[in-house]
Formats: sequence, C-alpha cells, structure tokens
Amino acid sequence: MKVGIIGFGSMGRMMAEKFSASGLVDKNTLLLASRSPEKLRDAKKWATICKTNSELSSETDIVFLALRPFDLKGVLEEIRDTLKEDALIVSLNGSVTFGNLEKSLTGSTAGADSVKTCVHRIAKVIPSVTAEVDRSQTLVCYNDQVTTEDKGNLKRLLSSMGDVIELPEKELGMGSELVSCMPGFIASIFDVITKSAEEHTDIPHDQVVRMVLQTMIATGELMLKKNMSFEDVVKRVATPGGITEEGTKVVYAQFPETARELFEKTLQKRAETSQKAESQFE
Ligand SMILES: NC(=O)c1ccc[n+]([C@@H]2O[C@H](COP(=O)([O-])OP(=O)(O)OC[C@H]3O[C@@H](n4cnc5c(N)ncnc54)[C@H](OP(=O)(O)O)[C@@H]3O)[C@@H](O)[C@H]2O)c1
Repeated sequence: MKVGIIGFGSMGRMMAEKFSASGLVDKNTLLLASRSPEKLRDAKKWATICKTNSELSSETDIVFLALRPFDLKGVLEEIRDTLKEDALIVSLNGSVTFGNLEKSLTGSTAGADSVKTCVHRIAKVIPSVTAEVDRSQTLVCYNDQVTTEDKGNLKRLLSSMGDVIELPEKELGMGSELVSCMPGFIASIFDVITKSAEEHTDIPHDQVVRMVLQTMIATGELMLKKNMSFEDVVKRVATPGGITEEGTKVVYAQFPETARELFEKTLQKRAETSQKAESQFE
C-alpha cells in the first residue's frame, strides 16, 4: 500500500515523519508533494518526492490532503483525473463538507447538497499537535463509500500519532475544539495561572512552570488511572473550610462565564470559517 501526502506544512510534515518513524511505510511507499519543493529536500532520505500532485495521486492508495481550505479545490481538480479508482482521499480540513469535496472530484456543477451519494471514498482527519509526542487524539470521519478495509488501513497509520476517535461529520466541530484546539486553551489558561502565581513568589519562572506542568500531567493521569471525575479531585483536595476550597470557590464562581464565552466565540469563528471555505466551492 502506497501512502501520499500533498502539502508539507505543519500537519503534512508531522504526519509524514510519524508515518515514516512507525515503519508502516518506507522510502518507496511514502510519497510527498508540495507547492514549495525546497521544503521537501530533507525528506528525500526517507520518502519519495513527487514533482507534481498528479504524479503522487496516480501512484498512491491513500492520498492525504494536508492543505489549507482555500487550496483544496484547486488540488482536487488537479488530481481528479489521475487518482487511482479505489484511492482513499483524506482531507485534513474539517470545514469543507464531503459533498463539496466530492463535487470537486467529479467536476459536478450541482450544489454540495445535491451530491447525495458520493462515488469517491473520502475521510476527514483532524490530528492534534500532541501527535509530536505520540499522544494525539486524532479525529476521523468517513463518507458512505469508505470500506472496513480502508478504515483499518487509515486507523493503523493514524495510530502512529496516538489514539484515533471516530466521530460523525456533524460532531467534528466540537470534537476539534476538545482535542485539536484544547492544547491552546490549556496552555493559555495555565499561562494566566502561572503569571498570577509569580506575583506572589520568588521561585524562578522555569521552576514554577515545571511544577504546574508536572502537576497538570499527574492530575490527568490520576483521573484516568483511578477513574476519578473532576469533582472527585476537587473534593479530595479542597477540604471544607480549607485553603484549596478558597481557590476552587473563585474558579466555580467566575470561570464559567469565561468558558461559556470561549466556546461561543470559537464556535462562531468555526461557523464563519466553514462558510468561507464552502464558498470557495460555489
Ligand atoms: N495546524 C494544526 O494544528 C491543524 C490541526 C488539525 C487540522 N489542521 C488542518 O490541516 C490543514 C493543513 O494545515 P497546516 O497547519 O499544515 O497548514 P500549512 O502549514 O499552511 O501547510 C499547508 C501546506 O500546503 C502546501 N500547499 C499549498 N498549496 C498547494 C498546492 N497547490 N499543491 C501542493 N501543496 C500546496 C503549502 O505549501 P507552501 O509551503 O508553499 O506554503 C504548505 O506546505 C488545514 O486545512 C488545517 O485546517 C491543522
């Protein structure tokens, strides 16, 4: 089975490196193509570099499209005549619907909604930056043409980056907030907490960050290993009338409003981004 990745930016490079390191593909079975060939120079040692996107699509059984949404349509139109008949096409972008991906692949002029039954096998995949440490919770969803064998092949590859979670297309938005955006949310929350703590201590910055990070990781592991809920941890640490309870009371009183606004804003932005991405396909 040959695997191709079009686009060698943040996601394309990360996936290529992980797939290669896993041993599931080698120099002959991992094919790469991107707009700026000079960026692929280092990858020559462990992957085959294709001169064009069409060259890649004519030879590969799974074609990953690690492209920004506004570059997707052009590339789909470019490769549609050279794709292998039973190729699995995998878009890394969650905003563009299966209907519109299919529309560009078939050259149909009908609206996205009218593409009721897709001809092509298409999957959408959302990795997280935590794949860098093999701890991604990669989201995946499929159109109705994808076979059990395709799913198995794709899951094996994606497992080289961590866990794989299958979701229906309509849940990909919130799913992405929870695993793909969440590292950014967590980092910004703890950045605020760390800066606040530093106003009251002479412990060096690096040590404060390390203490918070290790506690964060250990809290997650504690909950997963001991099957504890967030409330269980709070109850365990925040004894009534104690010091921790003073802090958790502030969080429960003031943080819900921030969390509500966070999701309102991100989901609104997601809807706008999807609309913009979809308009490229009109
Ligand atoms: N970044 C994340 O954390 C993340 C997480 C989950 C999903 N995603 C999704 O993954 C997709 C890729 O994101 P990214 O962050 O990897 O973007 P990126 O860093 O901008 O990479 C996009 C790559 O596509 C290449 N490209 C553009 N047009 C092309 C064409 N016509 N033919 C071949 N290659 C072309 C670009 O080439 P140049 O080098 O010349 O620009 C670049 O290497 C997006 O749809 C994004 O929504 C991203």
